[in-house]
Amino acid sequence: MNIIITGAAGFIGSNLAMSLLKKGHKVTGIDNLSYGSLENISSIVNNRNFVFIEADLKNASVLEQIKSDAIVHLASQKIPRYSSALLTLNENAILLKIVIAKCINDKLKLVFASTSDIYGRNPSIPYSEISEIVLGPTTVKRWAYAISKIYAEQLIIANNAEFDLEYTIMRFFGSYGPNQNLTWWGGPQSVFIEKAFSNEAIEIHGDGKQTRTFTYVDDTVLGIEKCIFEPNSRNEIFNIANEPDEEISITDLGVKIWKLINGSESEAKINYIPYSSFGNYEDVRRRVPDITKIKNLLNYSPVFSLTDGLKKTIEWQKSLKKK
Ligand SMILES: NC(=O)c1ccc[n+]([C@@H]2O[C@H](COP(=O)([O-])OP(=O)(O)OC[C@H]3O[C@@H](n4cnc5c(N)ncnc54)[C@H](O)[C@@H]3O)[C@@H](O)[C@H]2O)c1
Repeated sequence: MNIIITGAAGFIGSNLAMSLLKKGHKVTGIDNLSYGSLENISSIVNNRNFVFIEADLKNASVLEQIKSDAIVHLASQKIPRYSSALLTLNENAILLKIVIAKCINDKLKLVFASTSDIYGRNPSIPYSEISEIVLGPTTVKRWAYAISKIYAEQLIIANNAEFDLEYTIMRFFGSYGPNQNLTWWGGPQSVFIEKAFSNEAIEIHGDGKQTRTFTYVDDTVLGIEKCIFEPNSRNEIFNIANEPDEEISITDLGVKIWKLINGSESEAKINYIPYSSFGNYEDVRRRVPDITKIKNLLNYSPVFSLTDGLKKTIEWQKSLKKK
């Protein structure tokens, strides 16, 4: 198949492109390199089945001439922890509208990256695809991201109803692994690993008792590929995540990473940073997926435990130092 990936030089996009090419598909990747990098796609840039277009997707003409069977739309702004809520709200809507227009015009399937953040602070754990959405007040800017993705999901479903847009919506739960962004943009793993390498205190936002269920990127990619190719994925929403029993508190994640790097006898250095230091922030206390639907309908089964995934990620981050 011919597949367009928006955000192809980013974390998930580059891993997906590598995997699809390995399986013999043709990939056109688009990225403006605002968060991604050419380094992420250096191993595939000369692959004859890969075309990379460095461009901003806000320029709709970028997509015009590309022949394809499906678009995996990953390019996006994320939680505006340090960045702008306005950018998140505007950009995510603009990019999606351009992608939807292309899909309807060329009759392509849209495989869209949504997020577990849309479940918000719903206290009923675990989250299945039909769980309630419980967000905080609109005065707290972090919710701009979840709201942009909820709007996106509704927009896609409405376009399905009126224009027969074929889609699959994927709600990712904290993906990590090689090619992750090395700042907070990429999630906690990369920054915790850097601190542990240099024997400096790991900085944890809040009290560290908040929990997450992290997914190694190969398992995220496995889920995306099921959403591209499996007929049962048609016009459905899926959580893509690790097993719910991999839930871990952020403090325990920091300690685990520290000990994997500095040895089990070494005492982890942790520094707690109050949320107030970066504005009116509100964290989600627990985030646990229910992956029954994707297991049953798409035969998905995550492979990597958190420990195995972290070991591979640490190895990758160590290899960057030798370059
Ligand atoms: N990584 C996760 O754990 C996670 C969790 C939930 C949802 N998601 C979603 O998955 C998708 C991919 O996430 P990621 O972690 O790979 O992010 P990422 O930032 O590494 O990748 C996104 C890529 O899109 C590119 N991009 C952004 N705006 C663009 C524009 N206007 N034109 C062209 N390219 C543009 C960036 O340069 C970047 O390379 C996003 O939609 C994100 O919201 C990710």
